[in-house]
Amino acid sequence: MSTQIPNPEPEPVDQSDEDSPATGEQTDEAEQESEPRPERDPQVEDTNRRRGADDTYHLKVFRYDPDVEAKQEPRFDDYHVPFEKGMTVLDALIFSRDEYDSSLTFRHSCRQAICGSDAMFVNGKQRLCCKTQLGDLEEPVRVEPLPHAEVVKDLIVDMQHFYDQMEAVEPYFQTDDLPDEELAEQRQTRDNRESIKMSTRCIWCGACMSSCNIAAGDNEYLGPAAINKAYRFAMDEREGSDMKQRRLEIIEQENGVWRCQTQFSCTEVCPKDIPLTEHIQELKREAVKSNLKFW
Ligand code: SF4
Ligand code: FES
Repeated sequence: MSTQIPNPEPEPVDQSDEDSPATGEQTDEAEQESEPRPERDPQVEDTNRRRGADDTYHLKVFRYDPDVEAKQEPRFDDYHVPFEKGMTVLDALIFSRDEYDSSLTFRHSCRQAICGSDAMFVNGKQRLCCKTQLGDLEEPVRVEPLPHAEVVKDLIVDMQHFYDQMEAVEPYFQTDDLPDEELAEQRQTRDNRESIKMSTRCIWCGACMSSCNIAAGDNEYLGPAAINKAYRFAMDEREGSDMKQRRLEIIEQENGVWRCQTQFSCTEVCPKDIPLTEHIQELKREAVKSNLKFW
């Protein structure tokens, strides 16, 4: 595993034994020495317990495989994974697959919040597993596939609809205004770059789309990620006003920005902290402005 492993040698174990309130003799001594006993903070106690070198974390992992008769009924499997400081949910899943059940299936690649392949529904929230510390979660940790998408197997969902919505906004740079020299850079001002900076951070993980109630009920809605992608290019000064107009037409169609009801669920789950709702609102304003006519 990529995480640092705290030394599981005898000393820490002995220390925790000495400190343990479960040892009858020690509890008696402590009671004689000082009365009343200081109140224990259950949260701190819980954190300390989790950090114990021999401790395990309890995972409940969603399982489903339409191709295997015995697994066609969805269920949760329990795994008790040895906890190491710095361990992520992805580390725990990899451990479970490697040590307990090699048929456990999930996507992952970069392990550093770059590829966007391991967005899942962890303890009731869309999260990137490689960015989520196990130690920050309540047990048992429930790991499920992203809601509002068809489950292919175990923790893998079909992302095709998400990709279709992204493609619908033509998520690539388009301009006719090329520099005179063939190899000249197409430069952008610092201010313009700054204004679109956050929107460029999308890693196509699909967490926002999965969290969106509107997208869940309306399969045609472009969704927050696609609209953010449109924002990224519509606000890029190098594309020019004609292309910006074309992009605004795409996003103000029936299933575009006006479907958003400003619930902020997408913004809350985005692992790259993109202010999605804000970008959608800004595009709404741009669309209104572009439709205003003064005679
Ligand atoms: S906008 Fe955020 S949550 Fe949505 S796909 Fe991109 S990175 Fe993931
Ligand atoms: S494994 Fe690439 S984003 Fe998590």
